[in-house]
Amino acid sequence: MTQDELKDAVAAAAIDEIEPWLERDTILGIGTGSTANRFIDRLARLRDDFKGAVASSEASAERLRGHGIEVFELNSVGTVPYYIDGADEVNAHLHMIKGGGAALTREKIVAACADRFICIADASKRVERLGDFPLPVEVIPMARSYVARELVKLGADPVYREGVVTDNGNQILDCYEFMIDDPVAMEARINAIVGVVTNGLFAARGADVLLLGSDAGVERLTSA
Ligand code: A5P
Repeated sequence: MTQDELKDAVAAAAIDEIEPWLERDTILGIGTGSTANRFIDRLARLRDDFKGAVASSEASAERLRGHGIEVFELNSVGTVPYYIDGADEVNAHLHMIKGGGAALTREKIVAACADRFICIADASKRVERLGDFPLPVEVIPMARSYVARELVKLGADPVYREGVVTDNGNQILDCYEFMIDDPVAMEARINAIVGVVTNGLFAARGADVLLLGSDAGVERLTSA
């Protein structure tokens, strides 16, 4: 199967996972990226079975609206029963690196408000140790150089993602050469640097369920 077919398969599996629980007043949390897009496209069929969605990016909000799915402000919603999103890397504890699409902060906020986080990913994203994928860090623009120097002290090789402005008006540093042994501790440590908005480690609040697509089918994993 191609990677695109695997993304389709996990998007379909996520629909199967949530469909029985949808009610007319349900508002879902929806992530960002190519896998999440496939989920959004499949969700269109169910649009009359639930109330709407909170999106983790302007791009996902636009795609949802394009399918006739109402998009709500998180502040008017409170909590969502499910947050469905992809990942750039995921380990056995369902800790993730996210933010390849620069939507990490809003993704982390919606995930924090979710009862259950369902991660959908093809098997290429499953790793033993996080860090081959460069860890994104969203920074307040004026703090970029300072934060970069602090990240070097932690052992990373941060690179400014030129030309990218997040939905929040901030910038991204991608941390290369940065293998992560303790994702929970490193997430907190990076977030404590002044000027960091958030980093792409989703470990303190990882996924609850991973739907992982491979040639053998879609495997359903819960955190170890
Ligand atoms: C967006 O900022 C990311 O966190 C995505 O969720 C992640 O990059 C996965 O994207 P794909 O589904 O496109 O691989």
